[in-house]
Amino acid sequence: MKAIEIKKDIYWVGAIDWAVRDFHGYITPRGTTYNNYLIMDKDITLIDTVKYDFAEIMMKNISSVTDPSKIKNVVINHIENDHATSLDRIMELVPSAKIYITEKGRKGLERFFDVSRWNINIVKTGDTLNTGTRTLLFIETPMLHWPDSMMTYVKEDKVLISQDAFGQHIASAVRFDDEFVTCESMSELEDGVIDYYANILMPFGQLIKAKIAEIQKLGLPIEMIAPDHGIIWRANPQKVLQMYLDMASGKANLSVSVIYDTMWHSTEHMTLPIMQGIKEEGVECKVIKLRATPMSMAIKEFWKSRGCLLGTPTLNNIMYPSVAEFLTHLRGLRPRNRIVGAFGSYGWGGGAVKEAYEEFKRMGLEVFEPGLQVLYRPSREDEERCYNFGREFAKKVKEYHERF
Ligand code: FEO
Repeated sequence: MKAIEIKKDIYWVGAIDWAVRDFHGYITPRGTTYNNYLIMDKDITLIDTVKYDFAEIMMKNISSVTDPSKIKNVVINHIENDHATSLDRIMELVPSAKIYITEKGRKGLERFFDVSRWNINIVKTGDTLNTGTRTLLFIETPMLHWPDSMMTYVKEDKVLISQDAFGQHIASAVRFDDEFVTCESMSELEDGVIDYYANILMPFGQLIKAKIAEIQKLGLPIEMIAPDHGIIWRANPQKVLQMYLDMASGKANLSVSVIYDTMWHSTEHMTLPIMQGIKEEGVECKVIKLRATPMSMAIKEFWKSRGCLLGTPTLNNIMYPSVAEFLTHLRGLRPRNRIVGAFGSYGWGGGAVKEAYEEFKRMGLEVFEPGLQVLYRPSREDEERCYNFGREFAKKVKEYHERF
């Protein structure tokens, strides 16, 4: 593998992880990439590293451009393991290189490495680094994705190196958005952006809006956005900025996700008339069975739709475990601007639907009440109740959607 020039004298020197399917519990059916960048200037500067398994690939890529021992500066935009765990490999080679990192980044780095002999320079928003003919401007982006995170803007080239933000877990033979759209599709790329945002950045919508506004206020022209995962935005960087602004502002499809699990197919049986009722109201609907669907995909489908109906059987008077697991994931992601309801079958005293509503309220979601419960097995009358439940929910979803 060779480095790929993304702008004159700026190279992608990262690695493609075709095989990763479980990224700290987030399912990645398309694999991912660990992007990092080398700026060939008077002072050669490396921005981020890669996951430790790929350190040798990174070194080969750097070597295809220059002798790695000539690196003078290392910028660490983000210390999470997938980006910083090859840093010691670089520092072995260039122990006198200057590291540029946020204060929180330095504190984190100390927990992963012995940094006592490293030349660490703390930077904050507005600080710059001159590399010879270029000026790197640092912009702190705490919580996008970790407290340490920052972005690096290359002024002369108008490139925003954005670490996790604007990335996607997509492994591909191509590096750029225009190439990807040609060999795959824009919808596949959009899906990668939404999937990443839903599973990683959903809790930080307000911060994202504020940070994009801050960047826009700085008046920085952006010709390219180079994230640390997936495809680089060179043809249309405004596209991903707008997608982030839309998602952070609560934009969603006028559709419903029906996310359920089932023991003896009774709750599953309920989903069909519910789906028909939803569609009868002119609202699109997608049905997702937990345990048959990776959790991160269920989260993405939840996020894409304005409404969600959650189906859970009662097991020992509480929610079905896979449904409870889904809600635990969801609660951590602090969803907003969605309307939800619950349904399910029970055999003894019930309890799952009530518990689901307690969770919804704890999360501060808009709720559609009452939920719908069916004893043992849906009868014909119960199917009618399910259909009407779906219809009434879809009506509420349409009303609620008007607010956005
Ligand atoms: Fe790709 Fe937050 O690490």
